[in-house]
Amino acid sequence: MNYDFDEKIDRSRTNALKWELLPAGGNPMWVADMDFATAPAIREAVEKRAAHGVFGYSVIPKEWKQSYQLWWKNRYDFEMSREWLAFATGVIPAISTAIRKFTTPAEKIIIQTPVYNIFFNCIANNGRQVWENELIYENGTYRMDFDDLEKKMSDPLCTMMLLCNPHNPTGNLWSREELEQVGELAAKHHVLVVSDEIHCDLTDPGKRYIPFASVSDTCRNNSITTLAPSKSFNVAGLGTACVCVPEQGLRERMKRALNTDEIAEPNAFAVDAAIAAYTRGGEWLDALREYLFENKKIVKAFLQNNLPQLSIVPSEATYLLWLDCSNLEESDSEVLQQRILDKTGLRLNAGYTYGECGRPFLRMNIACPREQVVDGLNRLKEALADL
Ligand SMILES: Cc1ncc(COP(=O)(O)O)c(C=O)c1O
Repeated sequence: MNYDFDEKIDRSRTNALKWELLPAGGNPMWVADMDFATAPAIREAVEKRAAHGVFGYSVIPKEWKQSYQLWWKNRYDFEMSREWLAFATGVIPAISTAIRKFTTPAEKIIIQTPVYNIFFNCIANNGRQVWENELIYENGTYRMDFDDLEKKMSDPLCTMMLLCNPHNPTGNLWSREELEQVGELAAKHHVLVVSDEIHCDLTDPGKRYIPFASVSDTCRNNSITTLAPSKSFNVAGLGTACVCVPEQGLRERMKRALNTDEIAEPNAFAVDAAIAAYTRGGEWLDALREYLFENKKIVKAFLQNNLPQLSIVPSEATYLLWLDCSNLEESDSEVLQQRILDKTGLRLNAGYTYGECGRPFLRMNIACPREQVVDGLNRLKEALADL
């Protein structure tokens, strides 16, 4: 089947965050959602549910767990037991719940910066300390700093690590060896790993992510993994996510916490959307991955030819590109982001919000029709003409 990712869909009057915070005629290549309609199977499921007209309380049927089990087994060769899985209304709510349940105020939580800005908020808003394990940026690529990671983990106040697998915003697809090493160090220092795998399906064609819990018994027994169709299928607004906790003791406590935080119950569309995604959305997703990969190639070629002073960090996952602006005369992303927006209406994310080490970077979301990508690139060129 052919899917039309070139179709321009008007998102005005839908309260779309990405489009509302923008001057008229602007181009929003920032917030991590896509300007594509979701997979036909999901639309059908949601439309069918809407047509029913009764939107009372829901339970989680066994088909919901089965759909996650099948998807992870077929795509990632990872067998998750039914009991490991619990529904949550969102990944960030679930991470915040894990933070409150498994750490105490003032304890330190590791994040690997530059990283998804909301990780900072989850930690700070719950009265814990951000404990940065900066990624090493060398020769234009990122890797983990294991010496520093061990040092940070060995602090007695450090009790949790938020792993981003694959990594937002750098697009790193962590290898088995890297994940194994994280798992070994965490177990050695009694640091619980929360592995956020929300971007896992959005890999370049031919590339595959490795679930943290699948790597070893050590990783499995000392982890909480968050999963969701929200990024892969563009259904973030449907409030549908999943927590996978293989170790029984951790699991019982996590389930209790999801309940006490009142994030364990689905809205009327959340379950059907997830089931449709994982049972009938595979073909659409693979077509999307091809389209995104083409977009990525177009951006790369454009920058090489037109803005060689910007370099794109090579990535293997996510639809987010991390642009190194350090060769520009003005490389402070706080200034750059505003200047690009004011001058051309193109909105990108400023790198400093992902940690101070991200200051000379911009993040660009390429999950939109190709015409919009090209328009954004032309605006970027215009905005940076005198830098
Ligand atoms: C790494 C990561 N985790 C979580 C989220 C958001 O998850 P949710 O909307 O389910 O809270 C995002 C959104 O961009 C993300 O990039």
